[in-house]
Amino acid sequence: MGQGFGEKYDADEGVNCSANVHIEGVDAVRREVFKCTAAAVAMLVGSHALGATVARGKPLGFTGVPVSAGDALTVPPEYEAQVLYRWGDAVGMKAGSPAFKADGSNTWEEQALQAGMHHDGMAFFPIDGNPRHGLLAINHEYTDDGLLHADGMQAWSADKVRKSQAAHGVSVIEIVERQGQWRVMPGSRYARRITGSTPMTVSGPARGHALLKTAADPAGTRVLGTLNNCAAGRTPWGTYLTCEENWNGYFSSQEKPNADEKRYGLRAKGWGYRWHEFDERFDVAKHPHEPHRFGWVVEIDPMDPTQTPIKRTALGRIKHEGATTALTKDGRAVVYMGDDERFEYIYKFVSRDKVRPGGYAANKDLLDHGTLYVARFDARGYGRWIPLVHGENGLTADKGFADQGEVLVKTRQAADAVGATKMDRSEWIAVHPQTGEVFATLTNNSQRGQPGREVDEASPRPDNIMGHIIRWREGGAGSGDAAATEFRWMHFALAGDPKAEKPEHRGNIQGDIYGSPDGLAFDDSGLLWIQTDVSTSVMNKGPYKSIGNNMMLCADPASGATKRFLTGPAGCEITGIAFTPDRRFMFVNVQHPGETASERSDPAKPQAVSNWPDGPAGGRPRSATVVIRRKDGGVVGT
Ligand code: FEO
Ligand code: CA
Ligand code: CA
Repeated sequence: MGQGFGEKYDADEGVNCSANVHIEGVDAVRREVFKCTAAAVAMLVGSHALGATVARGKPLGFTGVPVSAGDALTVPPEYEAQVLYRWGDAVGMKAGSPAFKADGSNTWEEQALQAGMHHDGMAFFPIDGNPRHGLLAINHEYTDDGLLHADGMQAWSADKVRKSQAAHGVSVIEIVERQGQWRVMPGSRYARRITGSTPMTVSGPARGHALLKTAADPAGTRVLGTLNNCAAGRTPWGTYLTCEENWNGYFSSQEKPNADEKRYGLRAKGWGYRWHEFDERFDVAKHPHEPHRFGWVVEIDPMDPTQTPIKRTALGRIKHEGATTALTKDGRAVVYMGDDERFEYIYKFVSRDKVRPGGYAANKDLLDHGTLYVARFDARGYGRWIPLVHGENGLTADKGFADQGEVLVKTRQAADAVGATKMDRSEWIAVHPQTGEVFATLTNNSQRGQPGREVDEASPRPDNIMGHIIRWREGGAGSGDAAATEFRWMHFALAGDPKAEKPEHRGNIQGDIYGSPDGLAFDDSGLLWIQTDVSTSVMNKGPYKSIGNNMMLCADPASGATKRFLTGPAGCEITGIAFTPDRRFMFVNVQHPGETASERSDPAKPQAVSNWPDGPAGGRPRSATVVIRRKDGGVVGT
């Protein structure tokens, strides 16, 4: 999701009013330096040696594509892209899926049997080790209700609320390749839709907590639905982690939200989804604990369509973006996570127990026991992970944290209390498959540098509308152990056109330019893939004009060399990335093609911005998963 969506722009403006400084130990003189010239920025990047980090540079063996403002998906000439799974397409369940109606007139019951809207994070799970046959789990982040219903949000009704909920959640589809083309298998025993009203269970320290109990669920253990599923992760034991991001927008709050509600961005009228008008649980005045049941990472076993998805409370309650797993040197699981809102934090969870062989069956409660940490990016490239553990670091009952469950329900407040570092909208996190070095996108923060919201070493640019990518190596001496509580960090790139008019918008990318990095993933060879989400309200305008439509690039983490691999159709965001294990095929999502500046389409003019992928005769633009391959059948990116 972009930073816009009308009211959402305000809602996302940053609700962290804690007094946390942005960098510990930066003196006034250094602060002055970071107010910020391009030269200072250039000095910052590369100023921290990380020691022996990565192997020497890799060639980026494809023809780079130019920026584009057109309405087409473009890949290098030696590649081709196939549209695989669009909003409204058949999921492949045994029950079948009704045909998609291009005028948006499918019912809510039909939508629940079709692909959801606004594809985002995803992961590929091979079946029996076959790289050409597997399951694709795909997030459906949110809905554009101007496109979802035939007459948009006119004549608002309970059925429209149900349809919007049905278009949220996750798809699990079974896909197979023949002669270079992929298709969704019909009648699959795996295929399922998980929606905004699918029953799920709660596990971990907040299960059954008083703050999770509602009239409909007095035990505080069962929740209906997962919402705003943005980034995603794949665990070493074969499950899918889906992240609840801007869940606050679905709730209408009391006229005067309390401090804890404000800390999570709950507000009187929500973000305009209007669910509370027909589904009472989204009315916070009536059901004040219902918002506590969202903002979690949800674990799904894609191989078991009967599994009840599980909200893993040990991983904290934030606007989750990123759930990227790594292993500690002694075999425990680590999950890296960002909280995507201005001035929020970066987290990691370290499991208590080791990952056991035997897949999900042997690791069913692994994510319920462990330690949640929040990151502090100190000066001169040092960093620390601070545990969010009840009874430690001031997280005590007299400070408002009665127990570990309350620490987790109020993760943001706990992170405030321990002095975490405020970041510029943390999006995806990627772990280098060979070195363990961690990379994170900070997509943008136009409010950085305002009074009380000063720049610091980790967030060095005021009016940071272009965003940046930060990297760190775990361990005080760069040991690389993901369990470490210290790390060494530096920047990978500051995004933006180096020729931009204002110095603070100028980037230092070594190669093709981009803005607002968001999706981020390594392939198995250690190439870094970067996806962008410049808001449609500013795309192709002003300082973004030379950057064009959203895109995907490939970078070599050793040399920094960056080359543009793909440009998306008009009004879209590029997000979600998965590979087949042989890397002959890459899956990428095109989210919200045709999005308008207000982020809500006019149903009378659905093609005002884009008609991708179905063309002018196709009705409405549709988010879709595409498959990209080299025409010669070779490995993607090499
Ligand atoms: Fe859904 Fe933070 O992007
Ligand atoms: Ca984004
Ligand atoms: Ca994102």
